[in-house]
Amino acid sequence: MQTQRLAVDVADLEGKPSRAAIARAAEILRAGGTVAFPTETVYGLGANALDAGAVAKIFAAKERPGWDPLIVHIGDRAMLEMVVAYVEQDAHRLMEAFWPGPLTLLLPRSAMVPELVTAGLARVGVRMPAHPVARALLRAAGVPVAAPSANRFGRISPTNAFHVAEDLEGRIDAILDGGETTLGVESTVVEVREGECVIYRPGTITMEQLWAVCRGEVRLRADLSEDELQKAAPAPGMGVRHYAPQARLVLVEGVGPGGVEIAMMEEVNRLEAAGEVVGAMAPGGFMAALMALRKKPFDMRGFTMGYNTVHVYHWGPWEKPEELAQKLYAGLRWLDAAGVTVIVCPLPAPVGIGLAVRDRLMRAGSL
Ligand code: TXA
Ligand code: MG
Repeated sequence: MQTQRLAVDVADLEGKPSRAAIARAAEILRAGGTVAFPTETVYGLGANALDAGAVAKIFAAKERPGWDPLIVHIGDRAMLEMVVAYVEQDAHRLMEAFWPGPLTLLLPRSAMVPELVTAGLARVGVRMPAHPVARALLRAAGVPVAAPSANRFGRISPTNAFHVAEDLEGRIDAILDGGETTLGVESTVVEVREGECVIYRPGTITMEQLWAVCRGEVRLRADLSEDELQKAAPAPGMGVRHYAPQARLVLVEGVGPGGVEIAMMEEVNRLEAAGEVVGAMAPGGFMAALMALRKKPFDMRGFTMGYNTVHVYHWGPWEKPEELAQKLYAGLRWLDAAGVTVIVCPLPAPVGIGLAVRDRLMRAGSL
């Protein structure tokens, strides 16, 4: 299969080339094809959510197991009504506060949604994306679009069209290229039940933001008791290794001032001595400490530390978790491409969007 590249200029969506690209992508979706497109979080691989044959192509292209349900993307309230049976009062409050945006709500599905989309579950994940290209595409297609992240199953999510092509070139009909995504980690998946918000997957809408809007408590699904889990919706796929680079991912944490830098450098030195080709996700501000702690000198020319085997990705400022989130997947992919055998990465604090970054890293690697 030939994968078409359709370029969109986000700064000029009304321009002729952008309009033509979006019209073509919408046409492919309506005809039952697959199109990768940008959202504010990561690129999604879309197909008409109401067409079981089209949705099956997503699973095939990604090599995704049938038990892992897809998120349905909607452009407006009319599409919401197509895919859900009803909306609970508290879910309405969250929609008002966070849509369009990176929040996925688990809602009772309508009969129009094929079983394949929800993996047979009673609830369907729905979100209204905020990205202007995603919005234009949904409007032009006129149908709700089922879209998981546009990567091979278990691999790193894509934050630009090049990443999508790395994983899916020749396996999908088109890639709508709208540049880099702005947020970088996926939406927050939430179920509202009995006035309480349960987070199935931490994401870019933070726990703190949900607290401000939810009437009841906000809890992570992982913190529910056995009894409560019986009543909650299932969480398929949450336990499996995911978001993973090809290299082994080693996570480090540190205590006290400079603790994390020390832990990181000890690990780098140890792995290098063991003959590994080491990659480091190095937050800004870590470099001075890392260099002081390093046994061999660093070569500061470029990103790659020249004559030694340590490859350094300049991540983002440690105090700016939004930037760490935005560059997380690009960094892991960059180090993979450099051919490292192991990646050493510090774990951000579980605060704000740091909780989501931490969640992805914990599922991709080990401490
Ligand atoms: O930001 C995002 O959410 C991106 C963009 C493309 O919208 N999408 C995304 O989809 O990350 P995906 O398929 O990679 O992850 C969706 C996850 C599933 O693996 C599952 O854990 C959960 O969301 N999910 C989806 N539908 C569900 C359902 N009906 N019940 C429980 N969990 C569900
Ligand atoms: Mg995914």
